[in-house]
Amino acid sequence: MENGQDEIYKPSAEFSSNAHVKSLDDYKKLYARSIEHPQAFWSEISSEFHWQKEWDTLSKYNYDLSRGSISIEWFIGGETNVCYNALDRQIEMGHGSRTAFHWVGNDEGETKDYTFSDMFNMVCQMANVLKDCGVKKGDPVAIYLPMVIQLPVAMLACARIGAIHSVIFGGFSSESLAGRILDSKCKASCVLGTAGMWQPDAVQVIVTADGVMRGPKMIKLIEIVREAFDMCKSDGHQLDHVLISQRLPEDQSPLGELKNLPHQYKLLKDLCDKASNTCPVEWMKSEDPLFMLYTSGSTGKPKGVLHTTAGYMIWSYTTFKYTFDYRPGDIFFCTADCGWITGHSYITYGPMLNGATQVLFEGIPTHPTNSRFWEICEQYKVTQFYTAPTAIRALMRFGDEPVQRCNLSSLKVLGSVGEPINSEAWKWYHTVVGSSKCPIVDTWWQTETGGHMITPLPGATPLKPGSATFPMFGVVPAVLDAEGREITETECEGYLAIKQPWPGQMRTVFGDHERFEKTYFELYDAENNLICNHFYITGDGCRRDKDGYYWLTGRVDDVINVSGHRIGTAEVESKLDEHVDCTEAAVVGYPHPVKGEGIYAYVILKEGVEPCDRIRQELKNKVRKEIGAFAQPDIIHWAPGLPKTRSGKIMRRILRKIAAGQTMVDDLGDVSTLADPSVVESLIASKADAA
Ligand code: WTA
Repeated sequence: MENGQDEIYKPSAEFSSNAHVKSLDDYKKLYARSIEHPQAFWSEISSEFHWQKEWDTLSKYNYDLSRGSISIEWFIGGETNVCYNALDRQIEMGHGSRTAFHWVGNDEGETKDYTFSDMFNMVCQMANVLKDCGVKKGDPVAIYLPMVIQLPVAMLACARIGAIHSVIFGGFSSESLAGRILDSKCKASCVLGTAGMWQPDAVQVIVTADGVMRGPKMIKLIEIVREAFDMCKSDGHQLDHVLISQRLPEDQSPLGELKNLPHQYKLLKDLCDKASNTCPVEWMKSEDPLFMLYTSGSTGKPKGVLHTTAGYMIWSYTTFKYTFDYRPGDIFFCTADCGWITGHSYITYGPMLNGATQVLFEGIPTHPTNSRFWEICEQYKVTQFYTAPTAIRALMRFGDEPVQRCNLSSLKVLGSVGEPINSEAWKWYHTVVGSSKCPIVDTWWQTETGGHMITPLPGATPLKPGSATFPMFGVVPAVLDAEGREITETECEGYLAIKQPWPGQMRTVFGDHERFEKTYFELYDAENNLICNHFYITGDGCRRDKDGYYWLTGRVDDVINVSGHRIGTAEVESKLDEHVDCTEAAVVGYPHPVKGEGIYAYVILKEGVEPCDRIRQELKNKVRKEIGAFAQPDIIHWAPGLPKTRSGKIMRRILRKIAAGQTMVDDLGDVSTLADPSVVESLIASKADAA
């Protein structure tokens, strides 16, 4: 990524002159205003929303753990509703007949358009169905759906009635699904201290589908839900309602085979058809929860990242508008799934709050041909296209022809998200997809940040391929050294931290505020000394160059980023450890040409067990089945032992280097603190059999 640093790509004068922010100077002025006069800055933006009750105090917070518990509040005293602003208000402004979604199905020719009024009707119906099920303000609702229109509809329906949605990506296994449902159910009673509205007898609803086609493959989601349903039940938790959207054709749907489904299973369509298409909104306090979204961390089970109402609404709205330089009439296409934060902020919320027209794509980029994304861009005259580097790298391998076959002249801005983008992929995206005329916005952010944090503004920022460039309005980054001190020189490298809250910041880990504080506000050095506890710690490393550009260098904790999906090494290890033949496993990431990082697992087998392909396959399948296909290890290395310190800590630094292909002990750094340094040589020697 280093090689892109001296090249600068400036937006064209024509693009800049029409943009919201027209020059680097304008950006700097606006940024300074957001920091020096936050009250004025955010008041202006918040006046673009409907407030049932105006807020009175912009923000209050404690960011210093040594002074007490971390707390973050924005737009205090206000009452609003995110769904109201995304739908009712758009219709009031005369956008009812505007297309909200061009839905594009997995198979070619399967499309349907939905206006803002259509969305309003569907959302109200679904909200009424949820209410009829007994869902109340503050109750968690699980959503496990493919990219059908019911997915954003269900999210907005929850927001309308004040239910907290928990969307679980459709690629997760039954065990992951059950784990998330149980976590949100068990913890609901203690989390809502501020909202204080959860009832211990809250109903448990999941909105799901019978299945989906992904490319040529059929995935029977309902079977996964059934397994999860049974797992919850054996754990003492009964799901009260399983609302099923029928997606597969009648003759292929597994619903027929499952005739004797328990009474909790109901067809969503039947209920929605009978429901009224108006539904009053629940007015929410600014800090009432909007949704939780589970994400992997370096330790333990995935945590429910909790976002609240007003701050998230304003953050997703503002970042969408400025980062993509959105104008009415634009057609936005984000290829992410709503099961991840990118789909939350840049499909369901940010664009809808801006009244934008979008493409909602159910399928995959290679079905039926490698031109699929580009055909969709051509057909709908997409103006802003937002995808992940892994998709760019995968499509790049098919050459320029599948792109050049399509007319992409409508494109204005290209976006990248989820992982660092290497300069080769950046340049291909820029020249081949964007015909060298579209600025690329490389957006750095996280589930926890709610929206873009470091990103170019397309009309203002001179780009350097591979750099996410400068902070968004209101974001104050700091680079910390190995002792946790903020580095004041412009040019530096270290841990990326954020010094003060911004509106879209997560407020807590659902049901576990202490975990929130420990994970995001404590930084430890290699000897486990606490070195910083008064900044938001991102878990990413970064470099700042002489011009102040930020270059994200990847995770500094035990999280692997596979194709833009976050996977905790501890989660994968615990699945491998459970295998009857396994004594211990250690998992690290290694550079992968398409996925960014691949998963490399070191496995120590029990005494007397011979390594063989059967066990290798069993281990891979186990992770696939119990977490999800995207978490399956790429490589299993039968390890004779693991490099551990005398206190028993695995030295992952060494494992990462060996996985990356380092074969000389001398290149592995200091191994003198190992309990048994000879293990390193035997690991290198045994790498030949890794597969
Ligand atoms: C990584 C996705 C470099 C980073 C929105 C972060 C990036 C993690 C970029 C969050 C980028 C995301 N450049 N790295 N533009 N965007 N990341 O929660 O390591 O799924 O911490 O949110 O992805 O992943 P998450």
